[in-house]
Amino acid sequence: MKILITGGAGFIGSHIAESLAKEGHEVIILDNFSTGSMENINEILSMKNVHLLEGDILNYEFLLSIMKDIEIISHQAAQLEIGSAIGDPIKDAKTNIEGTINILEAARVSNVKKIIYASSAGIYGEALKIPQDEEHPKRPQWPYGVSKYAGELYCQQYSLLYGMNICALRYGIVYGEREWYGRVLTEFIKRVVLEGKPPVIFGDGMQRRDFVYVGDVVEFHNIFINEDWKGFEAYNVGGGGSVTIKELAWLVIKLADSSFEPIFEDTEEGRCSKITGRWRIPKELKCLELDISKAINKGWRPRTKLEDGVMREINWIKRNPNRWLVRRV
Ligand SMILES: NC(=O)c1ccc[n+]([C@@H]2O[C@H](COP(=O)([O-])OP(=O)(O)OC[C@H]3O[C@@H](n4cnc5c(N)ncnc54)[C@H](O)[C@@H]3O)[C@@H](O)[C@H]2O)c1
Repeated sequence: MKILITGGAGFIGSHIAESLAKEGHEVIILDNFSTGSMENINEILSMKNVHLLEGDILNYEFLLSIMKDIEIISHQAAQLEIGSAIGDPIKDAKTNIEGTINILEAARVSNVKKIIYASSAGIYGEALKIPQDEEHPKRPQWPYGVSKYAGELYCQQYSLLYGMNICALRYGIVYGEREWYGRVLTEFIKRVVLEGKPPVIFGDGMQRRDFVYVGDVVEFHNIFINEDWKGFEAYNVGGGGSVTIKELAWLVIKLADSSFEPIFEDTEEGRCSKITGRWRIPKELKCLELDISKAINKGWRPRTKLEDGVMREINWIKRNPNRWLVRRV
């Protein structure tokens, strides 16, 4: 099949591209390289069935010009830094809302059969019920969650109005090889494994988070490449549980075979750590844990144990330490 992957040079998009290319599909990677990188896709670009288009989802005419014969769109491109979205909500909304509408409109005009939309658990906000199922109220805590949810609502609109088949996958915290530097797991790995320093935890470390390995996300995503569905659907894609940030820090220490103990730092929300310089997100969630029963009913299950996935990420960054020179916020 001929599949367009927006954001295909990014962390998750490049894993999707690699897997679909290996399955023999014709893969077109579209990326503006704002956060994506050639290093993520260099290897697969040598395959005959992989093509790279450098371009922007904000350029509607360009999107129209490349849609011919596309059968499926996997829309992964987004602005996804929570801090940047708070600092520049207009840019965030442009990329995540206008960019998504451009994709939907170009797909409609060009009769694309299926769209898979990368949504986020960030649309739910603080958990009112644990775990959070797909019906959980949507009360995002940050502009990023608002823009990702708005993208989803436009997907629903296009499905309602034009009968388009669109599926939203609400990822938890995706981790694994090629993860970008700035989020909590990468901070811990960089400090402990690359710098030989103890991890720094904001607050008491009892915040719960749902981590899902990128390879498992790709497996679930690809079910929708191979199967058909009608109308709009939404699925949580999580790891099947949650860990506290404190447990995560201890896991990294154990896997790095280190004798450190975590440092607990009472950095105020919205301020930077005095030790690492890392910014603490305002309105931090107490708990993010997804109910993945609906995805399990589709015959999928996250197969990678957190400690195995984290070990793979550690081994990857040891081989590629230059990938985490610049922190994203
Ligand atoms: N990483 C996670 O834990 C996570 C969690 C929930 C949802 N998501 C969603 O998954 C998707 C992929 O996230 P990721 O972690 O791989 O991020 P990423 O930053 O690695 O990938 C995003 C890609 O989109 C590209 N891009 C950004 N703006 C673009 C534009 N205007 N035109 C063309 N390309 C553009 C970037 O260059 C990058 O390659 C996003 O839609 C994100 O909202 C990610």
